[in-house]
Amino acid sequence: MKSVISYPNRGKWGQATYRGNCSGFVIKDLLEFYKPRSFLEVFAGGGTGYEVAKELGYTESIHLDLHPEWGGWNALKDDVPIQSDLIFCHPPYFDMIIYSGEVWGDAHNDDLSRARNYEDFIAKLNVVHQKLFTSLRDGGRLATLIGDCRKSGRYFSIIKDMEYFGNLESHIIKVQHNSQSMRREYRGKFIPIMHEHLLIFRK
Ligand SMILES: C[S@@+](CC[C@H](N)C(=O)[O-])C[C@H]1O[C@@H](n2cnc3c(N)ncnc32)[C@H](O)[C@@H]1O
Repeated sequence: MKSVISYPNRGKWGQATYRGNCSGFVIKDLLEFYKPRSFLEVFAGGGTGYEVAKELGYTESIHLDLHPEWGGWNALKDDVPIQSDLIFCHPPYFDMIIYSGEVWGDAHNDDLSRARNYEDFIAKLNVVHQKLFTSLRDGGRLATLIGDCRKSGRYFSIIKDMEYFGNLESHIIKVQHNSQSMRREYRGKFIPIMHEHLLIFRK
């Protein structure tokens, strides 16, 4: 891996139609680079990480999401079921895509994409990151993929506003392909967002 990653093709893993899904190459590269003994994915969504992990032989990896298809695991309230060496975490980017009640099932109060406002979203994301980081084995890593967003003219830098746990070991820029902001025609004058951040924290 390098500090800039770009995958024009998202790969064959998971549901390409699941809104806000990520490329399986991100997870594949993380697993092949760090070679963790145990792997946990939270915010599993359309199953990208699940399919990558199984293909790479992680028969015991665990994948969790509030989505009922993944058992309805609630990152705010439920315990982290294992101690792991690597956690891949791909939360909602604030309310850019609303998940419960729109992508799946009924509206759920603890869905991060349904936070009351940006400050509430950041507070909830901090709770989740702290819980995940605490659950790691010593020396383990939390890799969290997060985008910036713009709403009603305001720029939200989630990685600036959220709390950091442990040592920030790497900050990787992921080039975004086929995002809505690339397709949309804008009236005002501002620069469309075409990247996400992959932050790797070490315990
Ligand atoms: C950006 S998507 C993840 C997409 C996934 N990486 C993929 O490739 O398909 C974020 C996910 O967070 C889940 N989510 C939102 N709030 C949650 C919570 N409190 N606990 C667990 N999962 C939650 C949503 O259901 C959604 O699937």
